[in-house]
Amino acid sequence: MQNPSVSGLFQAIAARYDRMNRLISLGQDLRWRRQAAAYLRALQPKRLLDLAAGTGDFALAASQTLPSLAEVYLVDITPAMLAYAPAKKPNRPSLTWHIVEADAHQLPFAERFFDAITVGFGVRNFSDRLRALQEMHRVLRQGGKAVILETGVPRNPLWRALFQVYFRFWVPLLGALIAGHKAAYTYLPESTERFPHREGFLYLCQKAGFARSSFHEFMGGVAILYILEKDD
Ligand SMILES: C[S@@+](CC[C@H](N)C(=O)[O-])C[C@H]1O[C@@H](n2cnc3c(N)ncnc32)[C@H](O)[C@@H]1O
Repeated sequence: MQNPSVSGLFQAIAARYDRMNRLISLGQDLRWRRQAAAYLRALQPKRLLDLAAGTGDFALAASQTLPSLAEVYLVDITPAMLAYAPAKKPNRPSLTWHIVEADAHQLPFAERFFDAITVGFGVRNFSDRLRALQEMHRVLRQGGKAVILETGVPRNPLWRALFQVYFRFWVPLLGALIAGHKAAYTYLPESTERFPHREGFLYLCQKAGFARSSFHEFMGGVAILYILEKDD
């Protein structure tokens, strides 16, 4: 179901992935994940799915932000990314992390298994986003919430022009110098520009069954948080 080259790409950059995120986002990515997780606080979730979990930074932010959590399932298709996750688990005896290698398009969980879902910079990489969103909707309980963080493109023309110079030229150069993989960091701006941001993505979410959905922009739209609710 998933394009094997996407997994191969993340396998190649796994060791440098976290450092590159800090550099590219000027350290903001950690704050964005914490702020995203805070949208789940009122729900007091016990069981969370962190989809496309990668090296575990979103699971970590959620675990720190949500004291109600008892179980976090970190699901990803690339074992080399997941290999970095266990070391990030907070030392809280009441909290269990389950590391699961699986495809977002075919989740190995029963219906309504999770109270909440987080996805950080993952949906952009899915080959069939509608199918993956339908899977998320299926495994989420009634009244549950999903927060999806993605890269964005600013709407303000001046900010967008500045950002695009940074994203199209500087980021691939950093990728070549720091991660030794220019192609992966050329794929990042290209896939971001192809992504159906804001209302376009919300439309897909609604098609997947999420009746109520909204978005919140970080840094003028450089990153966008989508908040989805499954009806009671
Ligand atoms: C940009 S990383 C995001 C990692 C982490 N969520 C974060 O916030 O840093 C994208 C992740 O999506 C995973 N991925 C891509 N396609 C997937 C799929 N079909 N199912 C599950 N994971 C997938 C990749 O292996 C990679 O680890």
